[in-house]
Amino acid sequence: MQILGFKDYHNQGKRLAKALAIEYLEVAIHHFPDGESKVTLPNNLDNEVIFCRSMDHPNDKLIELFLACEVARQQGVRHITLVAPYLCYMRQDNAFNPGEAVSQKTIGRWLGQLFDRVITVDPHLHRINDLNQAIPNAEAISLSATTLMAAFLANRPNPPVLLGPDSESEQWVKTIAEQTGLEWQVAGKQRHGDRNVDIMLPDINFKDRIIVIVDDVASTGRTIAQAAKALHQSGAQTVNCLVTHPLFADDAEQVLTNACINHIWSTDSIDHDSNVIQLAPLLAEAIKY
Ligand code: R5P
Repeated sequence: MQILGFKDYHNQGKRLAKALAIEYLEVAIHHFPDGESKVTLPNNLDNEVIFCRSMDHPNDKLIELFLACEVARQQGVRHITLVAPYLCYMRQDNAFNPGEAVSQKTIGRWLGQLFDRVITVDPHLHRINDLNQAIPNAEAISLSATTLMAAFLANRPNPPVLLGPDSESEQWVKTIAEQTGLEWQVAGKQRHGDRNVDIMLPDINFKDRIIVIVDDVASTGRTIAQAAKALHQSGAQTVNCLVTHPLFADDAEQVLTNACINHIWSTDSIDHDSNVIQLAPLLAEAIKY
């Protein structure tokens, strides 16, 4: 078994190979001036390979994985795993208006055709609870970073209050709180558009408290920023945030900085300066099992 990594995620790929004590090889990607991708795989692949690439900026990456899978199969590879700690297109799980594509179903079905096994971390499953419903025809494994997050938070010098910024985040906040004994709360959220959300804090006293906002993903950063602003208005002493997937689209980091967030922490599901938690041990354990 070999890890096939990509330049944009090579540190994580190498760490996973090390945790599994297997060879790391890299897929070469060339982008032509018109935006097309040329994909070149190493030769002499084993019967079983693991592509390790997170699926932020998904459109090019999906095409590149499609091309890479074709070559691997042509080379005789019999079992292909995708390790994508951040899995794209999971949020659009319904047609909310006539004519809308249900991306989760379509992309999930496609991934199930390409790969024998897909492993991800804290996927955004809202209306379904089993990743196999989104990715049929493959072994679909959904891991959670909550235990690693709990270990990280348990080591903070002063015990914070955990705040989930919306009802969907309750699953992660509650699990971390159960593992650490930390106090936890969940806010209410109303989304009016991609970059426009309102946060309603629960009715408790945040004055002089140290808060960690915990969520699965920060995309535009507006959810966390609005929660942080409300917390500061309520007299919180310090507001930090911890997310599994630091997507941080466009101006998200500036938005979070402007909201006076002290520390921005994340897992290395997506490569970013805020990474403080490495997922390799979690992923390796799932692969070994
Ligand atoms: C949504 O329910 C998710 O859990 C996140 O809260 C959301 O995706 C964050 O998006 P943004 O950073 O754009 O507010």
